[in-house]
Amino acid sequence: VSTVVETDVLIVGSGPAGASAALALSTYGVPNIVVTRYAHLADTPRAHITNQRTMEVLRDLGVEQEVVARATPQHLMGNTTFCTSLAGEELGRVRSWGNDPLARAAHELASPTRMCDMPQHLMEPVLVDAAVARGTRLRFETEYLSHTQDADGVTATVRDRLRGDTYEIRARYLIGADGGRSKVAEDAGLPMGGRMGVAGSINIVFEADLTRYTAHRPSTLYWVLAPGATVGGIGAGLVRCVRPWNEWLIVWGYDVTAGAPDLTTEYAESIVRKLVGDDDIPVTITSSSAWTVNERYAETYANGRVLCAGDAVHRHPPSNGLGSNTSIQDAHNLAWKLKLVLDGTAHPRLLDSYTAERAPVGRQVVTRANRSIRETAPVFEALDGLAPQTPERLWANIAARKDATEAAEQQRAALREAIAFKVYEFDAHGVDLNQRYTSGAIVPDGTPDPGFVRDPELYHQPSSRPGARLPHAWITSGSRTLSTLDTVGRGRFTLLTGIGGQAWLRAAEQQDVDIATVVIGPGQEYEDPYGDWARLREVPDAGALLVRPDGFVAFRHPDAARTNARDLLTDALRRILGHA
Ligand code: FDA
Repeated sequence: VSTVVETDVLIVGSGPAGASAALALSTYGVPNIVVTRYAHLADTPRAHITNQRTMEVLRDLGVEQEVVARATPQHLMGNTTFCTSLAGEELGRVRSWGNDPLARAAHELASPTRMCDMPQHLMEPVLVDAAVARGTRLRFETEYLSHTQDADGVTATVRDRLRGDTYEIRARYLIGADGGRSKVAEDAGLPMGGRMGVAGSINIVFEADLTRYTAHRPSTLYWVLAPGATVGGIGAGLVRCVRPWNEWLIVWGYDVTAGAPDLTTEYAESIVRKLVGDDDIPVTITSSSAWTVNERYAETYANGRVLCAGDAVHRHPPSNGLGSNTSIQDAHNLAWKLKLVLDGTAHPRLLDSYTAERAPVGRQVVTRANRSIRETAPVFEALDGLAPQTPERLWANIAARKDATEAAEQQRAALREAIAFKVYEFDAHGVDLNQRYTSGAIVPDGTPDPGFVRDPELYHQPSSRPGARLPHAWITSGSRTLSTLDTVGRGRFTLLTGIGGQAWLRAAEQQDVDIATVVIGPGQEYEDPYGDWARLREVPDAGALLVRPDGFVAFRHPDAARTNARDLLTDALRRILGHA
């Protein structure tokens, strides 16, 4: 060991979790170093569905437009198709990812952002470029080996794979964003529930012009019920668009107990041919790799000064497209807390709220993703195509659904229902947006929780209750139209009030913590010409909402508090920042 390098936060991993943690910390002015094992960022598409909450995080971090410019837009994502091959028979479609007309309206009402399809190998460079431009020091080919921690910080030993030597990095905090085989989480002893290696998957990336089979039903996902596709847990082969309509990724299962097959180009081509179903289309295989589907989540995300994020603490199948979304949101939840602890504004206890808030989300995501896989079974059952499945039997059952018999009519209805039910995987807007945090960094207002009016997994329900994300409404400032979400964030607390809320504005100025203030009402800095904000805010004009840097409501009060706003706000902030 020759040198000790010092920083405030050491981040292990440059995937969605590590790269967005670095980006947020650098945006907030916190010195940080990223070490990452390979000489490159993600070199295959991997995760891609990018939901509205993640787009809001990226908007807050100033990279939303870069992502939009590179991503496939929402309107090309929307026809999840079940078929016997791309060229073969179509069994049905689900309007997906906010493309059902009612869902589209719900998406527009919920957020200033749009969902999009941003493959991981395109997303990571956007995050990393911006992080480095804002001060992150990034070391490629540098592998985390071990760490020790004491009362003041963490010392990590890393190996420079280029030179072959090891050195130490001393940081006040360590973020383990080292993915599904996290050594940091293991070394920190984070207890993990669930199972690894539930099923085996092969990713085959290829180039082929499939416009003829896809442009008329634009989608990010095409599910192929081909013989042999029930192996490996996913239940059907998946042809997933990387770039419309020339770059593709196939996900195909293998039996984990038997081990991954030999991933030769011939093997990859045979799978592509089977799922595309047209041997005349030229195909170029770009890469093939095997990975395992896991069903695991950590009960706690931190041990002292070591905090883990992303797949390091939640591992699940790609269903619902939640992998990188949850990872980016973990990082956004953590970064402002680290900043305030590092600059002395908050007590280190604030970091306890990271596990309290994100572990329930991680558990929910792992459970939902695995449930979505099981919920595909009725599609196969409707075709009587479950194992032991022979090609002849599957084709015969698919053909039988066209008969003019009562049995065939029942089969058609069962198939329709089974496909429509997949909305829980392909259009679960509530899963994306309905997080409600309970932790020391949230001050409950004592009002009873009204719960959800509609299915909380499918439908977003805005709320200004402490612990909910600030509702989005379009407001104006002069000739500018902006979202309420645009008035908060960027590493600061924000207090929102309206006419009559002067006591809250004075109280905000009197705090030691930096608090932005926003007044919405006629003749104020911001106006609410549509009345949308007034309908959503759940407090009267002179009431107050205190919003955390990550856009979640931390405290709210139902009136002007003319005599005691200062005490109320001081007390709330003491609790939020872990001083009380
Ligand atoms: P991620 O795994 O992305 O990043 C981990 C980082 O840590 C990498 O930069 C790695 O190099 C680094 N690292 C690991 N150990 C290290 C060490 N000891 N020292 C230094 N650096 C280290 N999801 C999905 O929704 N749809 C999909 O189709 C797929 N497909 C898919 C394919 C493959 C091959 C993989 C590996 C994963 C997927 N996923 C997926 C999962 C998805 O990619 C995943 O949820 C997110 O990438 C998680 O982001 P993280 O940043 O947490 O980990």
